[in-house]
Amino acid sequence: MYRCKATCRAHANIAFVKYWGVVDSNLNLPANGSLSMTLSHAHSTTTVAWMDGSPTGEADILVIDGKEQSGSAHRRTVSLLDRIRTAMGIHWPAHVESRNSFPASAGIASSASGFCALTVAACQALAAGGRRDIPNRLHQARLARRASGSACRSFQGGFVEWSAGVDDTTSVACQVAGPDHWPLHDVVAVLDADPKSVSSHDGHRLAATSPLQEERVRQVQSHLNTARAAIRARDLKSLGEISERDAMLMHAVMMSSEPPLLFLNEGSVALMRQIRDWRLQEGLEVYFTVDAGPNLHVLCNEANVGEVSHRLARWPSVQDILVNGPGPAPELRNSHFF
Ligand code: PMV
Repeated sequence: MYRCKATCRAHANIAFVKYWGVVDSNLNLPANGSLSMTLSHAHSTTTVAWMDGSPTGEADILVIDGKEQSGSAHRRTVSLLDRIRTAMGIHWPAHVESRNSFPASAGIASSASGFCALTVAACQALAAGGRRDIPNRLHQARLARRASGSACRSFQGGFVEWSAGVDDTTSVACQVAGPDHWPLHDVVAVLDADPKSVSSHDGHRLAATSPLQEERVRQVQSHLNTARAAIRARDLKSLGEISERDAMLMHAVMMSSEPPLLFLNEGSVALMRQIRDWRLQEGLEVYFTVDAGPNLHVLCNEANVGEVSHRLARWPSVQDILVNGPGPAPELRNSHFF
């Protein structure tokens, strides 16, 4: 029944300079470049098997964290599988099973790790079945980018910059520094693990309706220059300040789009204030960033991870914490889920 299968583990990433808004929704070309760190302990592991049978949209099976999916997750997966089928000239349905090490769809970039792992496993399965002409990782990243922009950054370990580009081949992510360059930490404070009501995929299409979007896109180039230099110099103060500023500006765009998007909750705002107090009043070197969800990503140096984790875990509205350093590129696994 199964022709061939493969399994890949890919890691989520957190952007210091965020991607928000698209200029071409078919190719998923972003309005601006972005820069992230791949996360060591937030990952998706995905087995893809190509099956016998003829393709109809419904034939692909997708199971995430034990639940068979229909609706938008299934549709987006089928679209990505269709692009792979077209590239490879095959017509087989796929059986996909994916497990996340963290709550999916809550602003911890499960779409980045999920679509990255799916693409690598789907191509590798074909290689395991004897195909010698599978897309290389750069090409795979372009295929994944069209399902979830941030997925193209998860193809590299460490610190990664995605250049907006002007077409499919120039919109690519490159490593700025490897995982061993700097043991920067991201302690994720989970304030709400439920899936968010608007996906970032849908949110990107609203960015252009905000009167602030044009100004943000204009400023992002200097944010990227600052963040890149800060990473190279291992300068947490500079990276932390630009990350907070960039995240705030992105949320200002979200809040002022039509209809407005409000991803932060009361707990997020209270914790942002607390983090600033820890820094400004107690001298604890700690900064935050936040994606399209209420959960805060708290940035600190390795020496402060214990203290920061301890404080966050005791904070009343924090349900869970996830401690990450810089993570690796996608890895193939020898054991499969089925
Ligand atoms: O890749 P998407 O469509 O899930 O969008 C990601 C958007 C943000 O997480 C808010 C920012 C980013 O650059 O990761």
